[in-house]
Amino acid sequence: MKITVVGTGYVGLVSGVCMSEIGHNVTCLDINRNVINKLRKGKVPYYEPKLEKMILRNIKKNNLSFSNSYKNSTQEVNIFFICVGTPENNDGSSNLKYVYDVAKSLAKNISEDAIVFIKSTVPVGTNALIQKLINENKKNNINIMVASNPEFLKEGDAVNDFLNPDRVIVGTSSKDVMSVVKKIYEPLKIKNEKIVFMPIKAAELTKYAANSFLATKISFINELSILSDALNINIEHIKRGIGSDPRIGDKFLNAGLGFGGSCFPKDIASLINIYEQKNLESNLLRSVREVNKNQRINFMKKILSHFKNSKLTNKKLMIWGLSFKPETDDIRESISIKLIKDLAKKVKKLYVYDPIAIKNSQKELNRFNNIDFLKSQYSNISECDALIVCTEWEIFKNPDMAKLKKLKSKVVFDGRNCLNKEKILQNNIKYIGVSK
Ligand code: UDX
Repeated sequence: MKITVVGTGYVGLVSGVCMSEIGHNVTCLDINRNVINKLRKGKVPYYEPKLEKMILRNIKKNNLSFSNSYKNSTQEVNIFFICVGTPENNDGSSNLKYVYDVAKSLAKNISEDAIVFIKSTVPVGTNALIQKLINENKKNNINIMVASNPEFLKEGDAVNDFLNPDRVIVGTSSKDVMSVVKKIYEPLKIKNEKIVFMPIKAAELTKYAANSFLATKISFINELSILSDALNINIEHIKRGIGSDPRIGDKFLNAGLGFGGSCFPKDIASLINIYEQKNLESNLLRSVREVNKNQRINFMKKILSHFKNSKLTNKKLMIWGLSFKPETDDIRESISIKLIKDLAKKVKKLYVYDPIAIKNSQKELNRFNNIDFLKSQYSNISECDALIVCTEWEIFKNPDMAKLKKLKSKVVFDGRNCLNKEKILQNNIKYIGVSK
């Protein structure tokens, strides 16, 4: 099937490329010419495992192309996906400007009956507003239906998430749309019951509910880690103890610095705003957000109290991990970056390392003159008083103990409980985790 995907960010590019991978003829459209020119050469503007190879493969197979022209990307196409960002406004509501701009441009250019799927995360009721906007701008003699198709792609594993979805959620009441959806996703060979149809507004809310629930699980285990710390209990035991119950599940129960990224914080703020718009209160979501913010503050307190007698102003600290999670170069809402900004004001120097997020971090942290970006994770370690691990990259999990012993104060702060505590203690290095 011929498909046009608008937006070549984390969601649009992965969705478009994966749909070409499963056999569809896909055009990825973006108004950013620079990005489009790079993509035509197979250059991805961000890191996502497997994506670059998949792009090159499908360009060669001639079923994937990139364009910045609405005219060219709408000719003889009747399936569209809108995958542009919906950033957070100051009041927590979602900025829908980009979605509306795209919807209007598509309406003006689409030349035959079509379906426009909204994959962007949008507040409940937005699909209806998009349908109205498209009806006001489309050519008279054609019919364009809007349907909701939210995404559940985790950065760093997005290709796998698309090709092996737990479920495909589609908000529509149209039988025609349902049969088109089944054809689009048919090559995935997923069980029929995994394609879940529901009313449009329910699909819009499902996206927020999914992310908010996952964030709630994280804040639950993080709040419990505060108590476990006080009771001298290892939170990892509790994770195993409750996670073994299939009703709870052991995923998203990793205590640590808390959640960041471009989705959880934004989606929680947006969902709280949706409650407010109905004059309703979500105490739970506000608490989830509050617990998350406190997690970083509590971890900072651990660092400060460890160095309580000596002034931090003459300390040099090493920080591993800048991205908001492993396997991505994305630093949006990264807790590590927030912690670094807090620490940079207090310490003499920070040596920071990340396997791939250094470039993005340098742009974000360039106003601090006491932060050095390392080319290798052990450079300058003998100058440092302590190591702080903020992102659980695989390469950090089994560090070279001989090198860690060079730390002046011989202490490791493990913000993601990802290190082997016993091994570190056996090497006479102090270990401070998150109730581990
Ligand atoms: C999330 C959802 O998982 C995905 O389904 C949705 O489509 C987009 O938002 P993403 O933000 O890419 O994906 O990353 P995710 O793996 O969910 O992690 C989000 C944050 O939670 C990260 O900062 C991560 O470090 C943190 N996290 C995750 C924890 O602190 N503990 C956990 O147990 C899991």
